[in-house]
Amino acid sequence: MTSGRQHDHWEAVYAAKADAEVSWYQEHSEQSLQLVRQVSPDRRSSIIDVGGGASRLVDDLLAEGYADITVLDIAETALARSRTRLADKANKVRWIAADITCWTPLRTWEIWHDRAVFHFLTEDKDQDAYIAALGAATLPGATAIIATFGLDGPDRCSGLPVQRYSATSLAARIGPHFSLASEASETHVTPWKARQHFVYAVLKRA
Ligand SMILES: C[S@@+](CC[C@H](N)C(=O)[O-])C[C@H]1O[C@@H](n2cnc3c(N)ncnc32)[C@H](O)[C@@H]1O
Repeated sequence: MTSGRQHDHWEAVYAAKADAEVSWYQEHSEQSLQLVRQVSPDRRSSIIDVGGGASRLVDDLLAEGYADITVLDIAETALARSRTRLADKANKVRWIAADITCWTPLRTWEIWHDRAVFHFLTEDKDQDAYIAALGAATLPGATAIIATFGLDGPDRCSGLPVQRYSATSLAARIGPHFSLASEASETHVTPWKARQHFVYAVLKRA
């Protein structure tokens, strides 16, 4: 799918559906929060939530005192929804509307978080572009927490095909600059009670 078509797809999804009408909705991103706390208890750590959409992870990170948070998403409508929900607190967050496969970061972050974005990149060139952005947006010592559908997870999401991974195959695809420090798995229950297996890879940049 070209970048323009991806943008249009995700804008249409967020324009048509309320938060709790999308399969990936979570009231609290417990697994992500737990991993962020583990890898960086220091609340001054910088965090970027890539493809954060309208996720409430940002709300919980703010509530826990994380002070340097950025949310990036291809869909401006999703970011606007989070900004509205957060009201005054939205000013504490940096918001970036961009396609991760053609984005040049202007700074670096200590923690890169992605839940259910990389798995939509099913073509090598898009995966390579994501990995290049990850490399440009981090320094040695940084951590990437990347969650995708597991090998026994669904093969589609939001009407699009996805690439499924184990933590090991995900680490192998991300490449030699990052090594698998730990992994977690989650059975996500959608708002309509379907069960989806996610794998979380915690990758440390050498
Ligand atoms: C399945 S949703 C997950 C949202 C959020 N991470 C969560 O867990 O609630 C995928 C998100 O990735 C965003 N997205 C898809 N392709 C993208 C791309 N190429 N660049 C940036 N964001 C993208 C979508 O707009 C959507 O918000």
